[in-house]
Amino acid sequence: MALLSLRNVTRRFGGIVALDGVSFDVGEGQIVGLIGPNGAGKTTAFNVITRLYTPNEGEVEFAGENLLKAPVHGIVRRGIARTFQNVELFRTMSALENVLVGAHTRGRDSEQQALEALDYVGLAPIARRAVAGLPFGTLKRVELARALVAQPTLLLLDEPAGGLNHEEVAELGRFIRQIRDDRKLTVLLVEHHMNLVMGISDHVHVLNFGRQIAGGTPAEVRANPAVIEAYLGTDDTHAGGNGAGSAHAGEPVARDPDGAA
Ligand SMILES: Nc1ncnc2c1ncn2[C@@H]1O[C@H](COP(=O)(O)OP(=O)(O)OP(=O)(O)O)[C@@H](O)[C@H]1O
Ligand SMILES: [Mg+2]
Repeated sequence: MALLSLRNVTRRFGGIVALDGVSFDVGEGQIVGLIGPNGAGKTTAFNVITRLYTPNEGEVEFAGENLLKAPVHGIVRRGIARTFQNVELFRTMSALENVLVGAHTRGRDSEQQALEALDYVGLAPIARRAVAGLPFGTLKRVELARALVAQPTLLLLDEPAGGLNHEEVAELGRFIRQIRDDRKLTVLLVEHHMNLVMGISDHVHVLNFGRQIAGGTPAEVRANPAVIEAYLGTDDTHAGGNGAGSAHAGEPVARDPDGAA
């Protein structure tokens, strides 16, 4: 059963059509990849799902409910949590304080939950440190803890491998699977590291210039000529499509940590 469904979602910014009639489902309990070149509309899809942006057209359904009727502050309570491509943390606050922002309630219990979430992502030792100056990969993990403390049923990860080296990316792939299994949640994953996405996703959707050009199992998507043409490249090891800022599958991504390609 689909936990999340987008139907003919269009979102324009002036003359740019960031999402152009996009429809896809995310099945409950699955890890679903959302891939495509820079500017394809992946982050915009996350912003629509989390109600930061309202689509010009189309429907978004989550757990059988029309999500477009939900206010932005009601999204976490409905069970959707996310991390951000560029990391959105309060830099002068500690890791713990940042994670507490994601908790539903305040007080001793939520502090305990926030500490547990930090421990779960391996950051207990730095819980009370200000996040300013921490490496980008660590900041991404603080955000992951903040998302998890909300106890979501749907976790949206926007380029979680940013700032990680080759081994760390492989470890992250195992960890995302473990999170899905431990917490019985559904994951929608945006990432340019093709080995990561193809290695852990049950299903992959591909966007290009706001349009969905393919969807299927990782093997189906990898073999799809339109995807190879737009994004993966002919030797099946490179992803990027748009040239500058493109990623090399299986390699650390040569992109600015702030996502500016
Ligand atoms: N708030 C906004 N205002 C104007 N244009 C926007 C806005 N958000 C996104 N866009 C435009 O919409 C298009 C899709 O952007 P989006 O950030 O969704 O791409 P993406 O697939 O996440 O790319 P990347 O892989 O580089 O992160 C781009 O042309 C982008 O410039
Ligand atoms: Mg993006």
